[in-house]
Amino acid sequence: MSGWLSTSDSFPLRSTALLAIAVSAGLYVVRRAIQTRAPNRCGSIQPREERVLIIGASSGLGRKVAKQYAARGARVCIVARRAEQLSLLASECGQRCIWEAADFGNAQDMVRLRERLLAEWDGLDSLHICAGVSAVQPVMNLAGVKPGENHDAGTADIQRAVDVVTAATQGNVYGPLVAAVTFIPMLTRTSISPSILLVSSVAAVVPAPTRAIYAATKASSLLLFQSLAIEHPAITFTFILPATIQGNFRASAVDADTASREAGPNREGLKLDYVADRCVDAVDRQVRGNVVIPWFPYAIAHHLYYIWPSFIEQRARKKYEFGNRSISK
Ligand SMILES: NC(=O)c1ccc[n+]([C@@H]2O[C@H](COP(=O)([O-])OP(=O)(O)OC[C@H]3O[C@@H](n4cnc5c(N)ncnc54)[C@H](OP(=O)(O)O)[C@@H]3O)[C@@H](O)[C@H]2O)c1
Repeated sequence: MSGWLSTSDSFPLRSTALLAIAVSAGLYVVRRAIQTRAPNRCGSIQPREERVLIIGASSGLGRKVAKQYAARGARVCIVARRAEQLSLLASECGQRCIWEAADFGNAQDMVRLRERLLAEWDGLDSLHICAGVSAVQPVMNLAGVKPGENHDAGTADIQRAVDVVTAATQGNVYGPLVAAVTFIPMLTRTSISPSILLVSSVAAVVPAPTRAIYAATKASSLLLFQSLAIEHPAITFTFILPATIQGNFRASAVDADTASREAGPNREGLKLDYVADRCVDAVDRQVRGNVVIPWFPYAIAHHLYYIWPSFIEQRARKKYEFGNRSISK
């Protein structure tokens, strides 16, 4: 993040960037003023009464969000595909925590989960969709054309790229869609203050090399949910757009980049506890729309792209060291 504007930048470049910062800062102040006028949700649903479903809770951010809700006494249901991790987390979260091994892209799994929540809790107040999968290679890499190469991709190579996009779409678009379609009516019917939080990504609004497939699928579910928010005004929709978070997200890469999988946990980036705290706080404060973390520089980069795309492209290439090096980080 530091060095985003360097001293070597030309005068028009710096002045445009500074103008964008000033405009964004103004918008941020207005947004905060609007948000602080929303009543705190804890006034209508006591934290101990809240019924919270967290999808994607077996590791990373979802796991931390579950622990925060459990610590304040909420009824928590944790969901992911790996049963062992869920069972361990449930024992740490205490007696009010239940768990279900399920794939959120599978309609049968989600309907089974809904029936269980109806039977055990009589409904639901908060749905956190934290689940997602990563993809870390340049697009042409997927079709066997490395950066710097210009040979044509064959049919099988192109199909391989399509298969990767299908897997990313399954994890980042179909899963959120199935969860939304399954739970929106029940949330609306059974909660006095229904809430849906989707964990998206800064990558959904600011383009980056080597993250094209990930970004495209996260952007797709973000827009899907932004539109759902308009169709279902009784539900507060919150979208969390973090930059890189510490943890092992790269291990979920659907493009099977072995170097990334074996790189181990990412120690750079936002702390999981901090992002989890922002998720819970945003739902408590009934924040609608996008919450970009950190706001600077990414919310600005998002707006700046409209007026100066080449600036953002150049910065993104630099951040990801793309261009000089021939392989993804
Ligand atoms: N890490 C980052 O740098 C970063 C940055 C911005 C945004 N995000 C977003 O933050 C969210 C959480 O990422 P994280 O860093 O916490 O990664 P993570 O540790 O890999 O957690 C992902 C969670 O999603 C679950 N999941 C994946 N596919 C699923 C499926 N089909 N059905 C049910 N659960 C599924 C995984 O559990 P199972 O494998 O057990 O199913 C796991 O619990 C993701 O949506 C990601 O896009 C991450």
